[in-house]
Amino acid sequence: MYIPRPLNNKITVPHLKKLKQQGEKFACLTAYDYSFGKVVEQCGVEVVLVGDSLGMVIQGHDTTIPVTLDDIKYHARAVNAALDNAMLMVDMPFGSLNSPQQALDNASDVLKATQAQVVKLEGGITQIKTVEMLCSYGIASCAHLGLQPQQVHKMGGYRVQGKTKNSADQMLATACDLEQAGADLLLLECVPATLATLITKTLEIPVIGIGAGTDVDGQILVLHDILNVTSGKKPKFSKNFMQGQPSIQAAISRYVHEVKRGQFPDQSHCFA
Ligand code: KIV
Repeated sequence: MYIPRPLNNKITVPHLKKLKQQGEKFACLTAYDYSFGKVVEQCGVEVVLVGDSLGMVIQGHDTTIPVTLDDIKYHARAVNAALDNAMLMVDMPFGSLNSPQQALDNASDVLKATQAQVVKLEGGITQIKTVEMLCSYGIASCAHLGLQPQQVHKMGGYRVQGKTKNSADQMLATACDLEQAGADLLLLECVPATLATLITKTLEIPVIGIGAGTDVDGQILVLHDILNVTSGKKPKFSKNFMQGQPSIQAAISRYVHEVKRGQFPDQSHCFA
């Protein structure tokens, strides 16, 4: 017989909102399998993302574009099996959000298959109607602004976003519209720290940053980056937490510790 896991001790969206109101930072990290899901949760990470970064760090592609909904489902089921308390968030992959109806169908499908609590969607302004639709069907969503890796070919590379006054104003306006549409969380990737601070102060929903400075409500990084097992050039916003640590557990715990105390990121990981 299937007995649903109680939500009593789960980190929920309202819990993250309370942390924001209390000025307490929270730590998020990606994971893609059961074993790392367990380690990450045991080290105190509050939100675990099965990101489409799996296309790069697990599958070896150059971009996140080849990742399918089935890939996300496969990895998220494994991570979900590991989590007792941490929130599970899943990425909606490229091509799964081409209309609000398609997004609703795919999000419903992935949530059923994985028991994730939140879906994350890239696309910014084009996803406002989708966020509204998901919200009206009771699906929690995390909007994603700034650098959107699924648009890498359109952007011509992985670049900091929101550097000009126009683009910064536009990002702030879109963030407000997404909140208004019913987004529960917002993720900001590679944006100037001052802009991220302004967006975080303006919105009531929690803002999670990656390369978005210290003042956001939560931080997220790719697990393989902090464990220093990604090949090639390391992103400026990341940090090798294995350095000086005796184990993977110690490195992840250090990450959580530094995020919660506002020690990570420091100036060297931020964009102006
Ligand atoms: O796919 C992913 O891992 C992400 C993070 C970089 C935030 O979206």
